Amino acid sequence: MKILLLGKNGQVGWELQRSLATLGEVIALDRNSTNYCGDLADLSGLATTIQAIMPKVVVNAAAYTAVDKAETDEVSAQLINSQAVEVLAKETAKLGALLVHFSTDYVFDGEGSHFREEDEKTNPLNVYGKTKREGEMTVSRHNPQHLIFRTSWVYAARGHNFAKTISTLIKNKEALSVIDDQIGAPTGAELIADCTAIAIRKVLEHKDNYGIYHLVSSGETSWYGYATYLYELLQQLGVPLAVKDISAVTSNAFPTAAKRPKNSRLSNRKLSSVFNINIPDWKLGISRLISELEDVK
Ligand SMILES: NC(=O)c1ccc[n+]([C@@H]2O[C@H](COP(=O)([O-])OP(=O)(O)OC[C@H]3O[C@@H](n4cnc5c(N)ncnc54)[C@H](OP(=O)(O)O)[C@@H]3O)[C@@H](O)[C@H]2O)c1
Repeated sequence: MKILLLGKNGQVGWELQRSLATLGEVIALDRNSTNYCGDLADLSGLATTIQAIMPKVVVNAAAYTAVDKAETDEVSAQLINSQAVEVLAKETAKLGALLVHFSTDYVFDGEGSHFREEDEKTNPLNVYGKTKREGEMTVSRHNPQHLIFRTSWVYAARGHNFAKTISTLIKNKEALSVIDDQIGAPTGAELIADCTAIAIRKVLEHKDNYGIYHLVSSGETSWYGYATYLYELLQQLGVPLAVKDISAVTSNAFPTAAKRPKNSRLSNRKLSSVFNINIPDWKLGISRLISELEDVK
């Protein structure tokens, strides 16, 4: 079985190269690939790639993910997160292929304090979230054989993310201020890739359970709670730390171009029950990440 993976070098794309390899032959592309066009900005090149490869599954891990930059670069964000996704949806539908796509907690406005279910009303607060929501809608409109996974607060050993940035700051700075009024679940690219492979296998076997799922770690924390857990882990591992104080502040202390939702809690119940997956607490993956980065057994 041929699987086309787009965005192979992103946090999630890199882990998908590993997990999808257990399902079939993976043709993995990024925007610089020369054998086939893997650039989502090249809409006709993208269509030609799918027509030439004729995959049974297309997994799109590529996205315009620069949340603040998107506020002043809506045309590019819309091209990658929506128009390119429309091409993927239409071309996979023509082949009768499964399209797997990733989306975000930022499609919601973050009101309230509950864990959101998949069918709740969306209302993105920023351009990135708006273009990601357009991407979701175009997938469901053009290819009924789809899986859309909304995830949040992604980290990986490879790539740029909060866990790696804050760990470096904890080692090198005496004082840190971290936002305490945005709540969500840090989710590892490894977990996302593993759950994606399980879901693809089951959907292909049973030809049902297509649709949208929240793929996030269990539990919840704030960015501040996340930072203090990183501190505890590094301390337990005996890493020399410069930090003496980590203080909790509100989002107002760090003005950003793009507004962020306060409540990014997503319920992962549907994914867990439909695909019979045990989804661990966010702390498990973060502990593994820090041990790996510090090379501690
Ligand atoms: N990161 C998060 O916290 C987060 C949270 C919620 C949802 N998500 C969603 O999860 C998915 C995976 O995100 P991630 O964390 O793996 O993001 P990432 O590390 O930023 O990876 C995104 C990848 O997309 C590629 N890309 C951008 N423009 C492209 C283009 N024109 N053609 C081909 N590739 C292009 C990037 O390539 P370059 O490196 O060359 O730019 C990068 O490899 C995305 O759908 C994202 O929206 C992420």
